[in-house]
Amino acid sequence: MVYKTDTEPELRQAVKAAGELLREGKLVAIPTETVYGLAANALDPQAVNAIFKAKGRPNDNPLIVHIADLSALPDVVSVVPEKARVLMERFWPGPLTIVLPRNPQIPNETTAGLDTVAVRMPSHPVAQAIIRESGLPIAAPSANLSGLPSPTTAEHCVRDLTGKVSAIVDGGPCNFGVESTVITLAGDHPRLLRPGAVTLEQLEAAIGAVEVDHAVTGQLEEGQVAASPGMKYKHYSPRALVYLVRGSAESFRKYVNALPGENIYAMVFAGEGEGLRKPFREYGAETDHLMQARELFWLLREFDDLGAQAIYVRCPSTDGVGLAVYNRLIRAAAFKFIDLD
Ligand code: TXA
Ligand code: MG
Repeated sequence: MVYKTDTEPELRQAVKAAGELLREGKLVAIPTETVYGLAANALDPQAVNAIFKAKGRPNDNPLIVHIADLSALPDVVSVVPEKARVLMERFWPGPLTIVLPRNPQIPNETTAGLDTVAVRMPSHPVAQAIIRESGLPIAAPSANLSGLPSPTTAEHCVRDLTGKVSAIVDGGPCNFGVESTVITLAGDHPRLLRPGAVTLEQLEAAIGAVEVDHAVTGQLEEGQVAASPGMKYKHYSPRALVYLVRGSAESFRKYVNALPGENIYAMVFAGEGEGLRKPFREYGAETDHLMQARELFWLLREFDDLGAQAIYVRCPSTDGVGLAVYNRLIRAAAFKFIDLD
């Protein structure tokens, strides 16, 4: 069942139904400002197990717990250090997830057995209303099948999850289009585990130095332990092979135009399509990282619909929200780079 939220009565009905289903231990796909989430009661091991099953997600990859009010925080975490307070004050509600020592009532199923828990307060009004209505802390990974690009529209959720969830709530396209920034404050030093719309620069301005986990820009070596388990899995991948191309727009054009074969697509910055002799899509201007993030997953899915076999992507810079776009693209490309110039 897909619930619309365009009118007041539709919204009320959707929120009421979603809240009830969540209290019954059911799964509901909900909109957030980052990507759609596959929501369930974070306190109910069976409901949480159902999330892993529906997504085909490995059990050792912990979930983010979502709250709508600060009053719910003590139900989720056991310690709130000063730096966490500062970040919450500055960036909540919004696209920032903070890893902290967990409240023991959060089941092992939710945290994959870790003694920490990831917590976030989303800003999307529909997500907030549903969490409040449920009266529960809500576990929600991205609402895609494991390995596919995260869903940024209800239509994506319908495709991935029909028959596997009790309801899908349509809140329109997601504003940011990439998942939340994840920072851990559970160790000795703040550490960025996953870049997102809250940037490294913004985090450091708020709390001082933040270490960047190796997995943010690199590939884990064989045997290396992932600080954020999700980063070790193949991710965000369309069926097509993705290549991340570094170099100028001009050399990109020459290189791609000369490629032999069918069903080769290009993903370029806005205004760079001219002179390309392969079909292409634009994903925001070179300096407009917010637009790149918003278009990214949607486009990767579209390339699959078009039957693309290979996608050559202009590599974004890694400042600001560009780091998040880069982080998702290197995974979509399974770390395949082409260096020109
Ligand atoms: O924007 C988002 O964060 C979306 C929306 C729905 O809120 N959710 C999302 O969840 O992206 P998911 O499950 O796709 O990604 C959660 C990430 C994974 O990389 C996971 O390994 C990491 O957070 N994570 C969760 N709990 C953790 C913990 N205790 N310690 C370290 N990493 C953790
Ligand atoms: Mg995910």
